Amino acid sequence: MTLGGEWWREAVIYQIYPRSFADADGDGIGDLPGALARIDHLADLGVDAVWFSPFMRSPQHDAGYDVADYRDIDPLFGTLADFDAFLAAAHERGIRIIVDLVPNHSSVEHVWFQEALAAPPGSAERERYLFRDGRGDDGELPPNNWESEFGGSAWERVTEPDGTPGQWYLHLFDSSQPDFNWRNPEVRDEFTSILRFWLDRGVDGFRVDVAHGLIKKEGLADHEKPVNAGPMGSRDELSPYRGQPEVHDIFREWHHVLASYDGDRVLCAEAWLSTADKTALWVRRDEMHQAFNFGYLMAGWDPQSLRDVIAESLRAYPAVGAPATWVLSNHDVIRHTARLMLPPGQDDGIGPRSPYLPEYEPGLRRARAATTIMLALPGSAYLYQGEELGLPEVVDISDDAREDPTFVRTQGERYGRDGCRVPIPWERGAPASGFNTTGESWLPQPEGWGDHARDVEIADPRSTLHLYRRLLRERRERRLGRSVLVWIDDVGDDVLAFHTHDVTVFANFGAQPFPLPTGQVIAASGPVVDGHLPTDTAVWLDTGGVPIGPETGGVPIVRDDVEDLIRKYGSEDVPSD
Ligand code: GLC
Repeated sequence: MTLGGEWWREAVIYQIYPRSFADADGDGIGDLPGALARIDHLADLGVDAVWFSPFMRSPQHDAGYDVADYRDIDPLFGTLADFDAFLAAAHERGIRIIVDLVPNHSSVEHVWFQEALAAPPGSAERERYLFRDGRGDDGELPPNNWESEFGGSAWERVTEPDGTPGQWYLHLFDSSQPDFNWRNPEVRDEFTSILRFWLDRGVDGFRVDVAHGLIKKEGLADHEKPVNAGPMGSRDELSPYRGQPEVHDIFREWHHVLASYDGDRVLCAEAWLSTADKTALWVRRDEMHQAFNFGYLMAGWDPQSLRDVIAESLRAYPAVGAPATWVLSNHDVIRHTARLMLPPGQDDGIGPRSPYLPEYEPGLRRARAATTIMLALPGSAYLYQGEELGLPEVVDISDDAREDPTFVRTQGERYGRDGCRVPIPWERGAPASGFNTTGESWLPQPEGWGDHARDVEIADPRSTLHLYRRLLRERRERRLGRSVLVWIDDVGDDVLAFHTHDVTVFANFGAQPFPLPTGQVIAASGPVVDGHLPTDTAVWLDTGGVPIGPETGGVPIVRDDVEDLIRKYGSEDVPSD
């Protein structure tokens, strides 16, 4: 079944990180023909759409998030014809395609940046980026104190064409990623044209990289980043480049570009902002369609924080007419098999010297429970490749094999994101566990990686892969993405419980097994023992749409009137068709 109008409101969107998904030419870096050869895995899994991390031309200093040509595919990944073939094959299977647009910065190899370097200060070529004179007697100090998200100063000094030390350019990320000047209409026009280029090829939407950063506060004054600024600086309330008001104008323009095409196309913001209310401003009716819910991703493994962030999201996003979204893993964060075990604050990459390294089995248990909760929630959900195999975060990557610029720019102080990017295992015992046929791998696969391979999981009915398939099938058939969530109270401090459509979800975070009410188990993240839900386990019960109450021998519930709920959450209960 393909989802219909405004499909993105309930879609499950699978992120392909192309470098690590599947490698057809055997050079150790995944590619589009490799992804095409594995497309039936996605169809079997039951996802509605694929989001591709960048595959445009790039020198790959930040794994493709440094784009040199927005209208071509990097030869590492294939050709435009390979992309068209993937898109056609996906559409045939009812899977939509979202591409990653990286508008905050280009690569230093982009023709515009090369022109800017060759042109004098004050030229139109430099006005496309953020060049400034340095401070100090000879301009030897950076123009302000801003720091790169990857560590170190956010400014790099250039050598002018005549060989003298010259101006500085801003790069919120690596020095190979100069920031565009989004106050310049030429930049805006260029990106409108890039959007059209991909829309004309038939893409169903865009994930917009660093959407929070496009506009910098006028004047570029100094700013002290708080000590615990959070992933991507998301807790930095006063940031001069995070969610500046002028960004809304840009998103409105893009919204209209997408609306001028037939079908329902989607814009999803990567916006690391501090609250759901702030993020909701970006997904008002005429702006983006959805934004990643990083508040949910960052919530700790405890029922109260989760309930708070879910309730907050189901209030804030529907209040502006947008769906809530949910995400537990992506290519920038520690895989949730490990992250949910970590003490607060230790969430910025882990490696051999980290003070605490989580054990795999208990982490997997939590991760499975977390996904079982997430896939029941109303709205749209994002999955990251490999989470359906329960992949661990890889910690034992040697320093010289690490590729994330964060590691290099902080002299190894921050491990960065390589641990969640190790190439996918497809077949146990095959070269590179089936990632390709040559055994090459751009990041080393650890010992035992093949034990998580897809073929191993297919053969085991209790595997994480089978759990995901089941959850996705039931979610889709019951249209849980469009339902209303009703909390169940009085289940104690260790349990999270709610109804959604005809499913009742229980998740037990406590040490004591929790007695479940009667009901048929639709899916469970782990075994239910004698009607009891063990610790770190979640279950979907079929209660046939009948609220569970004391009369059924189960726990009492508090249920508001449904009309009231619809008013409150702005969402509606759509029965299966
Ligand atoms: C986004 C991407 C991340 C990248 C950064 C710079 O946060 O998700 O991978 O490094 O932007 O483009």
